[in-house]
Amino acid sequence: MKIIKVKDYAELSETAAKIMSDAVKNNPKITLGLATGGSPVQLYANLVADHKNNGTSYKDVTTYNLDEYIGLDQNHEQSYYTFMRTNLFDHIDIDFNNVHLPKGDTDDHQAEADRYEAMLESTTVDLQLLGIGTNGHIGFNEPGSSFEGVTAVVDLTPETIESNARYFEGNEDLVPTEAISMGIASIMRAKEILLIASGANKQKAVLALVEGDISEDLPASALRNHPNVTLVIDDAAAALLK
Ligand code: GLP
Repeated sequence: MKIIKVKDYAELSETAAKIMSDAVKNNPKITLGLATGGSPVQLYANLVADHKNNGTSYKDVTTYNLDEYIGLDQNHEQSYYTFMRTNLFDHIDIDFNNVHLPKGDTDDHQAEADRYEAMLESTTVDLQLLGIGTNGHIGFNEPGSSFEGVTAVVDLTPETIESNARYFEGNEDLVPTEAISMGIASIMRAKEILLIASGANKQKAVLALVEGDISEDLPASALRNHPNVTLVIDDAAAALLK
């Protein structure tokens, strides 16, 4: 695991955006795995700026997002589809035919998870971006998730519901309790993984990821078994590391 330590969120967002935009420039037909959450917001803004200022094109880029809440229609303001449009897709030249997220509002969530996994199995993600939950989750693979898991309907833990309530008027009752998420095995098939972590609330998860045991109690620790992972972490997130 390669660790890049940076000063703060701004530098993290610049560093990670450069890794991603360089990857797109080097391979204009790249397949990207994308993440949502607060962590990649500025990174995506930097990709948009790079697209506008330097002309980096996404017209032949394909994307697969990690997850989507169950129960929100695509256009709900807190759906991850809306998040991706607002923060990235609406501001670059991506072809929406090449954009993929699980759908959280179908009649059959298990069938939707299976459909998404089948699509993932028929392709290769070249570069997968990840954030990390305060409890070490990746995607919505909460502690205890099997490292063999593929895309599935998953329950959110109370800790994740509490963390994500900030996006739902601070009201935990409005946060969906389930999601469709790529599994850890699905994530691990990516050729390269880039994980970003910023802020003091990620200290414990980062410590466990870098120095703890490889265990299903800390889903992100699976990444230690992957041959090509880069962590970009800021001083606050790295504070507990030796
Ligand atoms: C969410 C998402 C994850 C994300 C994580 C951290 O619940 N499902 O993909 O990495 O939590 O979010 P944030 O970046 O807002 O701290």
